[in-house]
Amino acid sequence: MDQQRRLVDRFGRVHNNLRISVTDRCNIRCFYCMPAEDVQFLPKQQLLTFEEIERVVRIGVTLGIDRLRLTGGEPLVRRDLPLLVSALSQIPGIADIGLTTNGMLLSELAQPLRQAGLRRLNISLDALDPEVFRRVTRRDGYEQVLAGIEAARKAGFSPIKLNAVSVRGLTEDQIEPFGHLARDTDTVVRFIEFMPLDADSQWQRDRVLTAAEILQRLEHAFGPLRPVAAEGGQVASDGKAPAEDYEFVDGRGRIGLIASVSQPFCASCNRFRVTADGRLRNCLFSHEETDIRELLRGGAEDAVIAQAMLDCIAAKGEGHEINTSRFLQPLRPMYAIGG
Ligand code: 5AD
Ligand code: SF4
Repeated sequence: MDQQRRLVDRFGRVHNNLRISVTDRCNIRCFYCMPAEDVQFLPKQQLLTFEEIERVVRIGVTLGIDRLRLTGGEPLVRRDLPLLVSALSQIPGIADIGLTTNGMLLSELAQPLRQAGLRRLNISLDALDPEVFRRVTRRDGYEQVLAGIEAARKAGFSPIKLNAVSVRGLTEDQIEPFGHLARDTDTVVRFIEFMPLDADSQWQRDRVLTAAEILQRLEHAFGPLRPVAAEGGQVASDGKAPAEDYEFVDGRGRIGLIASVSQPFCASCNRFRVTADGRLRNCLFSHEETDIRELLRGGAEDAVIAQAMLDCIAAKGEGHEINTSRFLQPLRPMYAIGG
């Protein structure tokens, strides 16, 4: 591959990982992401079509993209999602496709997604107590998600990976139950620090339950944990992967900690994003976007779209500034960006 035409930024970070939001819609209302009421969703014609997404990916592959993750909103509410997975998984150069879902629709879709070629699935579940689940998501659905997780297991997704956003004053008492789940079943639980990306601006620094505290609570309950090599053979602590993986020293169970706020992994970030309405974003927290939908629909040649990607990465900042006084929360909340 032409070294000049890779997605390398001013800090030498090579971007091979594209996260694609397929919709901003969602069937629940997690408070750290969506507003409680009056959500304004994008009109359908503003969403990239599957053909447009495929084209973006094909162009991305020429610039070194080889890993994809589909996100939302809730990606499973996008009609015919397995067709997209199948199309993307056939693009030469794509080594890996993942999906992040809230699990509400997995009972019906786990199997078709697996058949379409999906191999990696992360299910968001922040609480093992239905009441806490309702407080986080402002909806009923706990049982439905559990059924979805079972369907994913049956469809062959293994191990099951859960993402649990941890919020002080809300989910502390869920850490231990998640620890039991990780120790007793084929489930990896990844705890994620609460980031300032919520629509209702409820984020406050003191609501971040830090990875260090979560670790401490788990060790208190279950005994020592030790860092382990993460997926792909990387050593977790080298900062290459956002999740630091740990295992209990007695060999029973594995957990991950995603310390996005307290220990940012910006220095080794290899991701960029395309929103459901076709905006490139070089960072979750960036204040600028590149409109490629206009290019896609305006007859632009591949080279022009490739250049827009290169320019977007060239403009990437060093890292988020959550821990500085300069920090300004981005205008788009999580559901509109894409997890
Ligand atoms: N902070 C941390 N994680 C978040 N997610 C959504 N909003 C936030 C936030 N403000 C997570 C979801 C899901 C993924 C898409 O992103 O829980 O796992
Ligand atoms: Fe929906 Fe995901 Fe946002 Fe929760 S975090 S409201 S599941 S888009």
